[in-house]
Amino acid sequence: MLLNTISQTLEHWKAAPSIETLRSIYDASAHQWQNNLARLGQLHNYHLLFKNQAVCPYLSHLDQASKILDCGVGTGAFSLALLESVAHSAHVSGVDISYPMLTQAQQILKNRCTTLDLRCGDIRRLPFADESFDAVIFAHVLEHMAEPVETLREMIRVLKPGAPLIGSVTRKGLGQVFMSLHWHNRGYTSNQLASFLQATGLEAVNAFDYGTGWSRWMCLAAVGVKPR
Ligand SMILES: C[S@@+](CC[C@H](N)C(=O)[O-])C[C@H]1O[C@@H](n2cnc3c(N)ncnc32)[C@H](O)[C@@H]1O
Repeated sequence: MLLNTISQTLEHWKAAPSIETLRSIYDASAHQWQNNLARLGQLHNYHLLFKNQAVCPYLSHLDQASKILDCGVGTGAFSLALLESVAHSAHVSGVDISYPMLTQAQQILKNRCTTLDLRCGDIRRLPFADESFDAVIFAHVLEHMAEPVETLREMIRVLKPGAPLIGSVTRKGLGQVFMSLHWHNRGYTSNQLASFLQATGLEAVNAFDYGTGWSRWMCLAAVGVKPR
């Protein structure tokens, strides 16, 4: 039984799902996504991430005029945690392939941002000019990328020099193997995650554990800064 599960999972890893498959999976879960994050304690854990000592120093330059991009924004939970951590609004942009996710994000973020710009699109080709953002964030979308370093390079293209990239991914392990049967997500070790960010040329790269309970077991985060 276990062997069967593992071999099915390996098949998923070998054949990355198409965008259409991923979109239909996330479209179907959009209406319950925010409740599920709350039930799993992940809303709280996103707060803990942005309050983590590894991240806080990279948020001190942000103010209400700052521009933040959330790649794979989903229902907006990661952006909301950032805004609540810095205790002020900002110009928030978000990109996602799922319209139903973006509809939820619009409701959740609309009164919390200086301006809100949500776009349906693929984060591998971001619809923004070079060096547009004061911070780029992503949560649990890199696991869907067949070429994670290339996707990170695209995020960094739109980041201003000296600005941080902050992200969370699923940790490689048994929990992730079971999750991947439905969500098709890869998992990474902290060394892998750090090496992806280092490969893009980011400076001060740090991959670290965060959160409590489920998140501590399942998630990893990393931060890096675009060279000036
Ligand atoms: C695991 S969910 C995470 C959502 C949100 N960041 C959060 O933490 O709650 C992954 C999200 O990435 C989106 N996504 C997957 N592949 C994408 C791509 N190539 N471009 C943009 N969004 C993508 C999905 O539609 C989904 O909303």
